Amino acid sequence: MQVGTLKPSLTKTLERRYRAIELPEGEDRETFLAEHGGDVTAVVTSGRFGVQADLMDRLPKLGAVVNFGVGFDTTDVEAAQARNIVVSNTPDVLTDCVADTAVALLLDVMRGFSAADRFVRAGRWPSEGNPPLTRQASNRRVGILGLGRIGGAIAHRLVGFNCTISYHNRREVAASPYTYYADLAEMAREVDVLVIAAAGGAGTSGLVTRDVLAALGPKGYLVNIARGSVVDEDALVELLLAGQLAGAGLDVFAHEPKVPQALLELDNVVLLPHVGSGTVETRAAMEELTLANLDNFLHSGTVLNPVY
Ligand code: DGY
Repeated sequence: MQVGTLKPSLTKTLERRYRAIELPEGEDRETFLAEHGGDVTAVVTSGRFGVQADLMDRLPKLGAVVNFGVGFDTTDVEAAQARNIVVSNTPDVLTDCVADTAVALLLDVMRGFSAADRFVRAGRWPSEGNPPLTRQASNRRVGILGLGRIGGAIAHRLVGFNCTISYHNRREVAASPYTYYADLAEMAREVDVLVIAAAGGAGTSGLVTRDVLAALGPKGYLVNIARGSVVDEDALVELLLAGQLAGAGLDVFAHEPKVPQALLELDNVVLLPHVGSGTVETRAAMEELTLANLDNFLHSGTVLNPVY
């Protein structure tokens, strides 16, 4: 069964190869579950939709939740574990693409490229002169929240920009060449840019508090390619409006696809519609890995990329 709207080619393959059906929305859902819920052995979904305990309880034969995407914060993994349901994701194949997105956001928000593009398109150049001068991205101090696969790939790229890298994780990463901060606010005080690369979910919800954002200071930038839930979004908006932060590059938001109106009106933010992994190559690789996880489960009862 498919929960939520997925990539059309993935849906087509699921329908053709597995005769998968999409869980309907609204009133039809109840009828569908009453008629078919007892037959469903695997669900394919994405980080946008996920599967919660109440749906698991309607699918007594469910053995796997196969996630298209690396983030699985919308699935109740504890509930799955308690019911012996395996959960898989698609790690590694999107690491480079998402790390590229983080660096692009960092460059864009500091150099104001998107704002300059709007300036040209609005016919303001040269009649209004040039857009304001921007900030250099090279040689900066960058703090990474979440030095995992994606955080590590971002750090690796930024070393090429001669940036000094520090990071905050729950625990220090053994043999990491970067400076570890056990205290996130302390790291924020010491860096020019904070890049969020931590997984979403209860463990990181609201981790980037108003205090952490304020510690970045009026010359500090925030980049988020992870999950909007990691940041106090109201505080972010307030500090940006008050000039207490220099800018933000965001691919994710707290209540997607809702983007706070105030952000839409600011020139010192770059806003992307959660496209961190959105290249032809990466999405094809994610699709392949999703299907490989599903196949593996259907043939052997296990998945290739279990999340617990
Ligand atoms: C992921 O893979 O988690 C991306 O953020 C898409 O949800």
